[in-house]
Amino acid sequence: MTDGTFDGYGGRHVPDPLQEPLEELAAAYDDVAKSDAFRTELRDLLEEFAGRPSPLYYARNLSDRYGAEIYLKREDLLHGGAHKINNALGQALLAKRSGRDRLIAETGAGQHGTATAMVGALLDLETEIYMGKKDVERQEMNVFRMRLMGAEVNEVTRGDQGLADAVDAALEDFAENVADTHYLVGSVVGPDPFPRMVRDFQSVIGREAREQIQERTGGLPDAAVACVGGGSNAIGLFHAFRDDPVDFYGAEGGGEGSDSTKHAAPLASETGTDDVLHGMKTRVIGDDTEVHSVSAGLDYPGVGPEHAMYRAVGRCEYTGITDEEALAAFRELSETEGIVPALESSHAVARAIQLAEAGEHETILVNLSGRGDKDMETAASKFDLS
Ligand SMILES: Cc1ncc(COP(=O)(O)O)c(C=O)c1O
Repeated sequence: MTDGTFDGYGGRHVPDPLQEPLEELAAAYDDVAKSDAFRTELRDLLEEFAGRPSPLYYARNLSDRYGAEIYLKREDLLHGGAHKINNALGQALLAKRSGRDRLIAETGAGQHGTATAMVGALLDLETEIYMGKKDVERQEMNVFRMRLMGAEVNEVTRGDQGLADAVDAALEDFAENVADTHYLVGSVVGPDPFPRMVRDFQSVIGREAREQIQERTGGLPDAAVACVGGGSNAIGLFHAFRDDPVDFYGAEGGGEGSDSTKHAAPLASETGTDDVLHGMKTRVIGDDTEVHSVSAGLDYPGVGPEHAMYRAVGRCEYTGITDEEALAAFRELSETEGIVPALESSHAVARAIQLAEAGEHETILVNLSGRGDKDMETAASKFDLS
C-alpha cells in the first residue's frame, strides 16, 4: 500500500466527487498489478502490437565525435513512434477490465493522443482526445491520424491553448462522466494513482535497457539521460537503475533559457515553486513565466511529483535545454546517425552531448523517446537546407 506521495509531493488534491472514483481506480490498479493474467496479456500486446523489446543502439558516429560511449534506447521504433504506447496499452486494458467503455485523454505533441487512439481502436473503446488549439495547429498530421483511427479530437481554446488547458478540459470531462469513462493520463502526473501507475507501465524501458547494456558492455552505464515533460519516459528509464550507481540527468524544455521568462523548466529554473496543479503537489514554473518550448510534448508548467522528489533529494540533475540547443541536436543526430529524433527527445540528445563534452562519464545511456516525423514542419520552418 502507498499513500500516493513521494516525500510529500504528489497526493490526491481533487474535489470531493473525484475522490471515490480515484480510490476505486487505485484499488483496481493494485489488483491487476498482482494479476498474472493481466501481466501476460499486457506483455503479449507490448510485443505483438507495440513492437517490444525496443533495440539498444550504439551511436558509433556520435560516440566517436564526442569521445564517450553513447547508447540510444530506441523507443522511437515502437508502433506510433514513441514510448507513449507502453502506458496507453496498460491503462486501456485496465479500463476494459474495470468495465469502462470510453477513454478520454489529453495530448500535447499528439503522441499520447495517437497512442490512445490506437488502443481505443484495438480494444473497441470510444475515444475522445483533448488538445490545445496551439498544438492542433503545430501537429496537424497527428490530429488527422487520431481521427483516422476513429477518435474524436476536441480543440481546447481556453487559456494558453496548450497542454495544461487540455488537461483541465479532460479533468472536467472525467468529473462529469466517471461512471463509464477512464481518463487515460499520458504522463507521470495528476492525482494518485496516475504517477505511480504510469511509472510502472513505462518502467519496461529501463528494465530492458538495463539488461541490454549489461549484455553489450558487461556493466551498467555511468549516466542515464532523458527529456522531461511530465516525466514519464524519464522515470520509465530511471526506475530500474534507481538503486544503482548511475547518475540521472533530466533535460527540460528550456525554451529561451531557464533563466528567461519563456520556458517549461519547473525543476531546472530558479523561479520554480512548490504548488498544487492538476491534482498533485509538485514543482511548477513561476507566475511571471510563460510556458514555452519548441516541442509541444515538453510544453507543460508542472512535472511529475516523483521528479520533484528526485530533485529535492538530489538523485537527478535537471537542466533546461534551450530551443536552439534542441534544434541543433535534432539536426546533429539526423546527420551523424541517420536517425531523426522527436524534438522532445532532441533535448535528451543535447544534454548527452554536453555530458560527453564535459568528459566525466564513459558510458551514457539516452532514452530516444520518439521519432521526429511529426516535427518535420517545425524543423523545415527553422532550417534552410536548399
Ligand atoms: C516523443 C516524446 N517524448 C517525450 C515526451 C514528454 O512526455 P514525458 O515527459 O511524459 O515522457 C512526449 C510528449 O508528448 C513525446 O511525444
